[in-house]
Amino acid sequence: MENAKPAHLSADEWDELNFPRATEQDFDRVVERAISRRGFLGGALAFGSAAAVMGTGLLRSTTALAQQTSRFAFEQVAPQTDGTIHVPAGYKWDVLVRWGDPLFSDAPAFDPATGVPTGGSDRVFGENTDGMELFNIGGKEILVVNSEYTNNDINLPHTQDGTPASADDVLRLQNLQGVTVMELTEGADGWSVVVDSPFNRRITHNTPMKIDGPAAGHDLLKTEADPSGTASLGTFNNCGSGRTPWGTYLTCEENFNGYFGATAGLPEEEEVARGYKRYGINEKGFDYNYHAFDARFDVSKNPNEPHRAGYIVEIDPADPESTPVKRTALGRFKHENAESVVAPDGRVVVYMGDDERGEFIYKWVSRDIYVPGGDTSTLLTEGQLYVAKFNDDMTGEWVALTPEATGMDAARIAIFTRTAASAVGATTMDRPEWIAVNPTAIEAYCCLTNNSRRGVKNDDGSIRANAGGDPMAVNAPNPRETNDYGQIVRWRPHDGNHAAGTFDWDLYVMAGNPTVHKEGAYAGTANINAGNLFNSPDGMQIDTTGLIWIQTDGDDSNEGDFAGMGNNQMLAGDPATGEIRRFLTGPNGSEVTGLTWSTDRRTMFVGIQHPGKPFPDGEGSLPRSSIVTVKRDNNALVG
Ligand code: FEO
Ligand code: CA
Ligand code: CA
Repeated sequence: MENAKPAHLSADEWDELNFPRATEQDFDRVVERAISRRGFLGGALAFGSAAAVMGTGLLRSTTALAQQTSRFAFEQVAPQTDGTIHVPAGYKWDVLVRWGDPLFSDAPAFDPATGVPTGGSDRVFGENTDGMELFNIGGKEILVVNSEYTNNDINLPHTQDGTPASADDVLRLQNLQGVTVMELTEGADGWSVVVDSPFNRRITHNTPMKIDGPAAGHDLLKTEADPSGTASLGTFNNCGSGRTPWGTYLTCEENFNGYFGATAGLPEEEEVARGYKRYGINEKGFDYNYHAFDARFDVSKNPNEPHRAGYIVEIDPADPESTPVKRTALGRFKHENAESVVAPDGRVVVYMGDDERGEFIYKWVSRDIYVPGGDTSTLLTEGQLYVAKFNDDMTGEWVALTPEATGMDAARIAIFTRTAASAVGATTMDRPEWIAVNPTAIEAYCCLTNNSRRGVKNDDGSIRANAGGDPMAVNAPNPRETNDYGQIVRWRPHDGNHAAGTFDWDLYVMAGNPTVHKEGAYAGTANINAGNLFNSPDGMQIDTTGLIWIQTDGDDSNEGDFAGMGNNQMLAGDPATGEIRRFLTGPNGSEVTGLTWSTDRRTMFVGIQHPGKPFPDGEGSLPRSSIVTVKRDNNALVG
């Protein structure tokens, strides 16, 4: 997420401000920059045809792409700076649902000036739409969607500055976040929500959750309200999504730290205090002010409550009465998304990124195999969590986070996963956002959105570090100092097996601006040109044909280093040629995030989060995060 309001800080900037990073003298690694660059070029050329495109990227060769035939069925959309959506000729878009739209007929009506009242705010579609997945259940189209965070000045327009001033204000924010499950139908007038469908459900910051896995029942998860340490309330900062092979939804808790604050000082117990520092929990909290009115979020009273957030949560969209399950075996960090794939032997592999500067990429491999129709209840409980090490020679390995390797017990590996990953020397990355597996090849991609601190020196000459003290010197997959543009790293597991312990990697693209930087790394790779400029890749899905859909959450000023990029957008990429084309532009101020398709693949659902202007209802209305549909005029497959 980036905050919609320039006056506010993004979650990442807020963490930086509140916890100036520990630093470490590490002059040797500074020297690695040149070595890394050579490794990047040499290895890329050896990786295959697409990699050859990347290898020439730093030289700005124009020949490789020109020789390729495009596989796209659309003409590129030009960059835009206005307050609406643009799609290619031959395509159309429409609004499906906006925050505050009713899921049930007893929900309050949305008021264009005041939004929704607190009573009934858990009966409407939530704010800040993000990751989503569509499930076909008994012939019904069921959309499950995250509501990541709130825009307090929009959701609480009666307050002076958006600061919640009462328990009622806090409850409204809690109700507008979490997850929405809703049935959709397509009629002559397009798609709509089936109000009062038995599938419709809101999961909020107060919905009962079951805690599963190595951390369940541990002392660090016990609270006064839940002495068992196995039953918590709410899921938080639900960012990216995932779906399991057995048809459940995975919601991913990202910047959970911001909901907690302290009315009477932070806990002093050493292990707890260290964990707070690593995960960015402080006295003030972000701008939710929950702790002032809801003691559960006051760490002076409930120091273990933050240990119950930051997980992957599994939800069964087919059963509105089911209790969501927090799968602690998959680790506690600022989860972006969770991309599942079944290995050749039937084990389940889940790739996950931790979105903070200098944090890591993880992989879960189940102990048991997935059997369609069989028991799936422990596939995300019993298994092994790994963290990625990217070598400068363009190979990599998955390091198992075991008690032997980390010096931590299984529960603490699950609760303080970042510490475990630092202990085994994981590679610091430029903010891992979504990971996507290509269904047409044995490979995976991860958006590394940006990292303004990469390679930056402190006053004493040391390199900036992450919250755990791991220096963020440039390395081969994160090769640029002060990386404002971002890149997408791709890996191919050895033996054609996502469960394998080793892989080869390259960069699919480094975003850049060749119109501002005529040469060098900030120009980007050769598949970036004056026509398809973008920065900060974030959301990503790969469709059944292998096209990569890339969504951005970056600087939409259209000025300076970002000139010619326009608003945040969605682009399509060809994995084989590296060609990238802009498909959709969002309203100014918005982030384009969340993507899924109807079962017949003729409708694409796209999320528009925190538009800056009064999109989509126009002047006189509060801005409304929305999901839109995109279709072709001839109803053919999108893409
Ligand atoms: Fe919620 Fe990292 O984006
Ligand atoms: Ca982002
Ligand atoms: Ca994101």
